[in-house]
Amino acid sequence: MMDMKIKQRSDYTFKYNKKLGRHGWLRLTPAYSVKLVEEIIDNLPEDSFILDPFSGTATTGLVAAEHGISAHCFDINPFLIWLGNSKCRNYSYSEIKELKISIDKVIIKCQELVDEDNWLPNIHNIQRWWCEQTLKVLGALRQALVNQFGEPRDNHVSSLAWISFCRLIIETSSAAFNHVSMSFHNEVTAFEIEQIESLYLEILEAIIQSAGDNISGNSSVHFVDSREPTSIGDFQYSHVVTSPPYPNRISYIRELRPYMYWTKFLDTAREAGELDWKAIGGTWGIATSRLQDWESNAIELPESLKAVVSDILQTKEKNSLLMGNYVWKYFHDMHLHLQNLRPRLKKGAVLSYIVGNSSFYGVQVHTEQLLEDSLRSLGFTNIGSKIVRKRNSKKELFEYCVYATWQETRKYEPAYFSSRAAKQIQLELF
Ligand SMILES: C[S@@+](CC[C@H](N)C(=O)[O-])C[C@H]1O[C@@H](n2cnc3c(N)ncnc32)[C@H](O)[C@@H]1O
Repeated sequence: MMDMKIKQRSDYTFKYNKKLGRHGWLRLTPAYSVKLVEEIIDNLPEDSFILDPFSGTATTGLVAAEHGISAHCFDINPFLIWLGNSKCRNYSYSEIKELKISIDKVIIKCQELVDEDNWLPNIHNIQRWWCEQTLKVLGALRQALVNQFGEPRDNHVSSLAWISFCRLIIETSSAAFNHVSMSFHNEVTAFEIEQIESLYLEILEAIIQSAGDNISGNSSVHFVDSREPTSIGDFQYSHVVTSPPYPNRISYIRELRPYMYWTKFLDTAREAGELDWKAIGGTWGIATSRLQDWESNAIELPESLKAVVSDILQTKEKNSLLMGNYVWKYFHDMHLHLQNLRPRLKKGAVLSYIVGNSSFYGVQVHTEQLLEDSLRSLGFTNIGSKIVRKRNSKKELFEYCVYATWQETRKYEPAYFSSRAAKQIQLELF
């Protein structure tokens, strides 16, 4: 009965963003939906100042700016920081005109370079992604872009040319990007130079079109590890709207690898592992082996977390120790984040965290409840959570909005995500 009521709501996933101008420039499956953010920030006063401590593709920052609200966003992934800032800034008419003239030169240069031995990224088994003929053209186009603009850099109109290139490499690859667990088609298509150039120009034209729309709010993305007590100047935030990683062993680096290698934000598999070790919930490469002997520093964590980890350890599965450590570290890091967030918040600030639950060897990990417990132990008020959507057709995996206020004594409950079905499920589950 439960399953029939709560829907998977694809409008509350990245799929909703595909055709929404700048939001559709580059996709990342763990991105959340523009619609979801719009519901959360609906009716906020214009002097609100939003923080997204886990920016990803900067959905929060961009939606806020489109609604005339300012936002700061944090991430630890340099590619996403560059992408997010490129999505959130305004582009003047003269910049775009200048870009179009430069692109004509890039296309001519690409034809000259195509038979040369151009740089190609160090991607493992690259032939699985692109055939030799396609790689030749992509390598030439990349080199022509570098000759014209240099490598991707912050706050420059050439970011539009580079984002288009990122889209191009995916659209010419054999990767099937319709699910978080990315797969490959059996066939690798061979593209002619003319086909690649015209596809590139088509993508760029669409991106330029939406780059011309003026954005009234100010949003920026910063390199900040959200577990640290770092802040941007003396800013204090009235709202935190975010979707942190979930404790489900999905690594963002996996999906971002092709973009990051081609744009030189990544060079080796080792670097990818190092970056994922910094990411909350990261388990790529070296991150997994480090987890084996990771020990928590002495922060006081909720008893409920100890109970869940102990249940995972007791399953005595081959990797139960590793998975127990994984869950422990995830909630340890989230607790550290919430602890260090407090000085950055205005009195009365409202937090909205979109998170998913998970399960390890049959042990349910109720992310929303464990985060609520952390918030409670850290002195937040008005703590609760609501179901947003069902994530999977079979298992009881849901997405929740965990909410809380900071130094607010008046009663608060968000109006969003209040469907009767969600309330019913919440009652049935607990
Ligand atoms: C679920 S994604 C956010 C998706 C985002 N809402 C969007 O729409 O694209 C989580 C993000 O948190 C970032 N992240 C992980 N650990 C972090 C940390 N310690 N500090 C800051 N950002 C971190 C990851 O790099 C990833 O981009």
